[in-house]
Amino acid sequence: MTQFLPATFSLVAAAAMLIAGCSPSHPDAPRRSKAPFGSVDGKEVFLYTLRNNAGMEARITNYGGIVVSLLVPDKSNTPGDIVLGYDSLSSYLKATPYFGAIVGRYGNRIGRAHFTLDGKEYTLNANDGPNTLHGGLKGFDKVVWDADESTPATKASLTLSYLSKDGEEGYPGNLKATVVYTVTDSNELRIDYAATTDKPTVLNLTHHSYFNLAGAGNGDILSHELMLNADKFTPIDSGLITTGELKPVEGTPMDFRTPTAIGARIAAKDDQLRFGRGYDHNWVLNRTGEGLSLAARVTEKTSGRVMEVWTTQPGIQFYSGNFLDGTNIGKGGKPYAYRTGFCLETQHFPDSPNKPSFPSTVLRPGENFTSTTVYKFSAR
Ligand code: BGC
Repeated sequence: MTQFLPATFSLVAAAAMLIAGCSPSHPDAPRRSKAPFGSVDGKEVFLYTLRNNAGMEARITNYGGIVVSLLVPDKSNTPGDIVLGYDSLSSYLKATPYFGAIVGRYGNRIGRAHFTLDGKEYTLNANDGPNTLHGGLKGFDKVVWDADESTPATKASLTLSYLSKDGEEGYPGNLKATVVYTVTDSNELRIDYAATTDKPTVLNLTHHSYFNLAGAGNGDILSHELMLNADKFTPIDSGLITTGELKPVEGTPMDFRTPTAIGARIAAKDDQLRFGRGYDHNWVLNRTGEGLSLAARVTEKTSGRVMEVWTTQPGIQFYSGNFLDGTNIGKGGKPYAYRTGFCLETQHFPDSPNKPSFPSTVLRPGENFTSTTVYKFSAR
């Protein structure tokens, strides 16, 4: 893998590294490197590696902002890749259920592919029956983002930006989105989102990694134990569109307030599970203040890995990989069968543009949208 040193990387820093023997824990040692990954739409695509000094490494491409691999230590301190994905760019271009991608302009579903904003009706590209899913036909997961290589490579972070033009997929306004991925020294994958627009628009940015804490391709996720910090969820209809209600989880298979195996109630006779073909719902997070708050914790006993999700967002989509069917052949030639990965997508509530009682997803000129989500890993 070739390493790159940005323009700002000074000769003094390079000399300091030489003196320090280039030890990876030295503050001037590069924490970000870059390798070619192919090209899309005539634009070069790269695979960036971010590493910390505690055994964690993320490989991220500027195509779709996709996290291609995420190495996280297990209880015996052995790193393992815990996200589903592919070895090559061409596989991502062929077919992917949003493996590891940044999803936008509007993550999750907008019912009937339309919404009204300030009295004006907007029609979007439908790509999920009559509805729009994850931004439409060519969402933020399928475009080449610009990587800002002027940020110091001594920090394990990658800044990606994308200008979504006025009218793209039917959404109003030129929207400038920036996503910063950081691998922290406390074994976190931190994602900072920011956006501005020149016309009123709607926005719901999220990240779509499929996790398997036992390792990608190592069986299903049904014995993973999940805690969701939510007293309520947003029920869906048979087309997976939110009904507008906030329903208490109490007494339902949606109650994950105490850690419960994902598979414990997934086959229960329940309309919500039937509509979602398993879990594919948004939970209303119990929030404290405006900052990062604990949304979810997942533990996997054999590896000992624990993942916590912290976010500034009001909701989280827990999707139990119900549409995986073994046809996606992933890294190392491993097929990803039914429910072999789960997603925890921090977000605003699905179909908010058509649900006035939900927290607003409208972004107006002059406003700066920001949000942060942290996936924090440990092992025990
Ligand atoms: C959605 C699922 C969808 C999946 C696509 C999830 O975020 O909630 O309904 O099938 O993404 O892979």
